[in-house]
Amino acid sequence: MTALLDIAGLSVNFPVAGGLFDTLIPGRKRYIDILDGISLSLKSGETLGLVGESGSGKTTLARSILGLSPISAGTITFNGAELRSRQSFTNMRRSSAMMFQDPVASLSPRMSVGALLTEPFIIHGVVMQNRKVKAEELLSRVGLSKDMANRYPHELSGGQARRVGVARALALHPKLIIADEPTTGLDVSVQGEILNLMTELKTLMGLSYMIITHNLAMVRHVSDRIAVMYLGRLIEVGPTREVFKKPLHPYAKSLIASEPQPDPRKRRADLAIKGEIPSVLNRPRGCEFHTRCSIAQDRCRSEAPQLRAIGIDRIVRCHFA
Ligand SMILES: Nc1ncnc2c1ncn2[C@@H]1O[C@H](COP(=O)(O)OP(=O)(O)O)[C@@H](O)[C@H]1O
Ligand code: SF4
Ligand SMILES: [Mg+2]
Repeated sequence: MTALLDIAGLSVNFPVAGGLFDTLIPGRKRYIDILDGISLSLKSGETLGLVGESGSGKTTLARSILGLSPISAGTITFNGAELRSRQSFTNMRRSSAMMFQDPVASLSPRMSVGALLTEPFIIHGVVMQNRKVKAEELLSRVGLSKDMANRYPHELSGGQARRVGVARALALHPKLIIADEPTTGLDVSVQGEILNLMTELKTLMGLSYMIITHNLAMVRHVSDRIAVMYLGRLIEVGPTREVFKKPLHPYAKSLIASEPQPDPRKRRADLAIKGEIPSVLNRPRGCEFHTRCSIAQDRCRSEAPQLRAIGIDRIVRCHFA
């Protein structure tokens, strides 16, 4: 399988306004790293699960891949071409689509479902024969009835809104779909329906997915590989089955161990992550996880671990993994 998406050394920083720094050196802006040196690739036909606590930079990564968030360093290569110019990102957005975290809020409230589904054609200047027929075709692909085309976003149930989000993402036959928390806020049964739909479409339409979630059960179920982020950095990447069987990084171990289990005896509360997640405004020295790591040593407080390859397909950022 060839790489469809290749991200190398990607960093994103944002200026922080005000604060002590501005007072000390007026006029000089301080930048904080939201993402730092992310290198990650996605093969054609692959599903990658991106996990990490809230604030770890998952949405920022998704947005920067689509050119919606400016990058400060690194490269993004999609389908063999490096994305540099505004035009290349526009092309990228035509061959990929984002499913947003809150589909109703991300859908324009004044547009009917039919108009929303065909809007990508208009945005990208793609000719379509018949708007109504196209909308109905997309609706049927995601298991919704034709008459949904006349509804408005606020009239949809959570599950229907997600299906509309999937249909809209499919409109221009993308190669890649980036789904940000695709099942958050849905009942468990509806979550299953949406995931099954996404899996079905993947095979049918030859899609690749980047699925962003904090739902580990879902990642285990649908993704081929998993990437774990902490404070804007990758800390572990590997094949899903192997990472779940034997996580290497203490943070990944804790995440997996604290995953809700049908059998409560299997849940390891002792391994749950303790303490507050530090702020990116004030990153801990050395290993950034040391403030919460149960096996931290002196070295961890002074020396930052680098990403290391373990075997052929795993990487981890820990001195002692
Ligand atoms: N436009 C922005 N300006 C400044 N900081 C931002 C901006 N967008 C996100 N952040 C910060 O970046 C960090 C990562 O956010 P985000 O990518 O939304 O994380 P996640 O999706 O993992 O919850 C957070 O600390 C957030 O406050
Ligand atoms: S480097 Fe040290 S603090 Fe960081 S995860 Fe490994 S053991 Fe824990
Ligand atoms: Mg997010």
